[in-house]
Amino acid sequence: MKRAVAGFILGLLPLPFAASCGADSDLALPDLSIAGDLAQPPLCSDEDVGDAGIPATWSHVQRIFDDHCVGCHCCNDPVDLTSGKSYAALVGRSVARENGTDETCGGVLVTPGDPGHSYLFEKISSSQPCAGQQMPFSEFQITPLPACQQDLVRRWILDGALMQ
Ligand code: HEC
Repeated sequence: MKRAVAGFILGLLPLPFAASCGADSDLALPDLSIAGDLAQPPLCSDEDVGDAGIPATWSHVQRIFDDHCVGCHCCNDPVDLTSGKSYAALVGRSVARENGTDETCGGVLVTPGDPGHSYLFEKISSSQPCAGQQMPFSEFQITPLPACQQDLVRRWILDGALMQ
């Protein structure tokens, strides 16, 4: 009897680990927030107000990607957000349009000076982007970035999306 129960529980275990990552990516971290916490403290949190005094530099934007996105958007993913690859994948690009995917509706990922025409910002700030779901998410839930981090990306785009 005990054995049967144990078998039943073990049978359930693998389910939460079924990765739901980028279509072309075979790398998935089950809990990215833990990976981020281990690496370094968060850039800013929901307790911070306004811009939290953090300059909207490219290195801070990359830090957000490192903490929340690269577990999925790396390697074989068309939107590679790893350091050294991310800028070229985003600025003036519509990877979806180039590949003819559903996300084509979003247009250009980063239009310098124009957050309203930057699909990257729509994907992190809207609970209903034109395709797919709000970023970042895990297989368990959607956990939007703290407002101050969303705003940092918005300000970086508005300031011209410079690589500095
Ligand atoms: C758990 C894996 C995962 C994480 C974490 C994740 N993404 Fe995604 N992302 C996806 C998948 C899968 C898609 C395609 C489906 C969709 O849009 O919902 C996608 C789509 C996107 C797109 C649209 C791509 C296109 O072709 O236009 C953008 C932009 C994006 N993600 C940005 C981010 C950013 C920025 C972060 C971090 C703040 C992030 N993602 C975190 C898996 C992830």
